[in-house]
Amino acid sequence: MFFLTTAIDYTNGSPHIGHAYEKVLADVIARYRRLTGEEVFFLTGVDQHGQKVQQTAEKEGVSPAEYVKTVTARFSALWEKIGVEYDGWAETTDARHITCVQSILADLHAKDQIYKKSYKGFYSVRQEQFLTDRDRNEAGEFGAEWGEVTEIEEENYYFKLSDHTPWLREFLEKSDDTILPAFRKSELLNALEKNTGADLCISRPKDRLTWGIELPFDPDFVTYVWFDALINYISFVGYTPDDSLPEFESIWTDRPVHIIGKDILVPAHGIYWLAMLHAIGFTDEKMPQLLVHGWWNKKNQSGEEEKMSKSLGNIVDPSELADTFGVDALRYYLVRDIHTGKDSNFDLDRLVMLFNTELANELGNLCNRALNMSVRFTEGIISPGGPLTDDDTALQQSLIDNTAAYRKAMDNHEISMGLEALNRHVVHCNQYAEKMKPWELNKDLAHKDRLATVLHHLAESVAHCAVLLSPILPDASAKLAAQVKLPNLTDLKLDDLKWGLIPSDHEIEKPSPVFPRIDMKSLSEDA
Ligand code: ME8
Ligand code: MG
Repeated sequence: MFFLTTAIDYTNGSPHIGHAYEKVLADVIARYRRLTGEEVFFLTGVDQHGQKVQQTAEKEGVSPAEYVKTVTARFSALWEKIGVEYDGWAETTDARHITCVQSILADLHAKDQIYKKSYKGFYSVRQEQFLTDRDRNEAGEFGAEWGEVTEIEEENYYFKLSDHTPWLREFLEKSDDTILPAFRKSELLNALEKNTGADLCISRPKDRLTWGIELPFDPDFVTYVWFDALINYISFVGYTPDDSLPEFESIWTDRPVHIIGKDILVPAHGIYWLAMLHAIGFTDEKMPQLLVHGWWNKKNQSGEEEKMSKSLGNIVDPSELADTFGVDALRYYLVRDIHTGKDSNFDLDRLVMLFNTELANELGNLCNRALNMSVRFTEGIISPGGPLTDDDTALQQSLIDNTAAYRKAMDNHEISMGLEALNRHVVHCNQYAEKMKPWELNKDLAHKDRLATVLHHLAESVAHCAVLLSPILPDASAKLAAQVKLPNLTDLKLDDLKWGLIPSDHEIEKPSPVFPRIDMKSLSEDA
C-alpha cells in the first residue's frame, strides 16, 4: 500500500493558496501512484486544537468547538471544489483520535518516557512554545515573529526526546531517502546538532489552555497541540498501542510518505515525530519519508517577495481563484509553476499565461484540430492508414521518450517536470500537423491513406496525453477521453500505454473545446 498524508491544516483561519498547493500536490501524487497500478491510501484533514484556535474563537465570541466546525467546513468544501479526493479525513477533535492520543500518552507515561518538572522561561503565545536564548535576534530580543512573549514559570509534563536523539541522528545520517528532497537533510542534522539533551514539553496547564486533549494521567493538563496533531497520521488509520487493528497493518505496510511544508520539518516532523514514533516502538523500516515542499510567496507593493501569511494580509483565496479561472487553471498552475522543494512566487499573470499557452493553445489545439479534421475529412472514422514515414516514427518515438521522462519526473514527485515532458510531446504533435498539412492531403484522393495515417497519429497522441494528464487534471482528462470516444481510457494504467489505444475504424464526433482560453479583458469587465 502506498500511504500518503499531508500536514493537517490549522483551523484558525481560512484556507489559503499554500494549503491548496499542498493538497493538490498530494492529490496529484496519489492519482499518479494509482495510475502506476499501486494501491493508495491518502489521508488529510484539519488540526483543530491549540491556543490560537481558542483565542480566535474567543475573539469571535463563539465556543472553540463551534468555531472549528465552521472553519473545517471551509476546508472540506474547498477540497471538494478543486477535486482533492482523499480516503481518510482527520479531525483532531474526533473521539477516535482523542482515544488514540490518550492511550499513547498513557503508554509512554507507564514506560517512564514522560515525566513532570517545573520550568521558568519565555513563552510565545503565537508559536505556542517556550523560547530559548537561541531564539533571540542579534539585538538580544525576541523578534516580532514570536508575537507577544511573556516570562512564565509552570509545571509541565515532558517527553524524553533526548532518549531518542542519538538514534535519530544515526538513522538520518545513514538514510538517503527519509528527507526529500535531499538538500533539506543537512538543515535537520544541523538542528539536531544544536539540540542535545533537551526534552519536549508536551502539556499545557488547563488554566492557560483548555482547548486540547486532556492528559490521561493528570486532568489539570491538556496535550501540547503538536504532540496531539502529529499522532493523526496513525490514529486515523487504526493504530492503537497495544493491539493495532488489521486496518492499520494493511495501510502502514512499509514507509508512508508525509507531505509537509518546509516550515514544519524542523523541529516538528523531522525531530519530534520521528522520535515519537521511535518511542512508540516503530522500527526504522516503518519510519515515514518526509516530502518537504517549498513556499508560495507573494510580492508586496514594493515588489519584494514575501511569505504569504494571515498577519501580512496577502492571502490569496483559492476558492475565489477556482471560481474566476476554473479548477483546471488553478490545479495546473499550482503544480506547474513550482519545483517540488523550492519556493515560488504566486503570480496571476503566469496562472493565466500557462493555462492559455500550454493548455488552450497547445494541448487544446491539438485535440481540436485532430478530431475536427477527422470529422471533416474522414467522416469521423480514425484508422491507421498506409505505411509509416520517418515523421511518423519520430512522432511515436517522441511519445515513448516523453512518456518515460514524464514517469521518471513523476516518480520523483517532480510534477512540473512531468508536465514539461507531456508538453514536449504535444508541441511535437502540433509541429507534425503543421508539416504534414492534413488539409492539403485532403485535397487529393490519392493521399487518402496518408491523410488517415497523419490523423491517426494525432488522435492516438491525444488519447495518450489524456491518460498522462489525468493525475493533474482528472476532469479535463475525462473530457478528452470522452472526445476521443474512449470512455475506458481513464481505467488504463501507465503500463497499458502502448501505441494502438485507438482501435481500427474507430468513430468519433465533433469535439468541443476542453480548455477555452481565459480572457483577462472580459474577466475584468465582468468585475
Ligand atoms: O502547520 N506555501 O498548519 P498550517 C506553501 N497544523 N505551503 C504552505 C504555505 C505557503 N505559503 N503556508 C502554509 C500547520 N503552508 C500544522 C500542521 S501536521 C501534523 C500539523 C503549508 O495550516 C505548511 O507548510 O500552518 C503546512 O505543511 C500546511 O500548509 C499547513 O500549514
Ligand atoms: Mg503554519
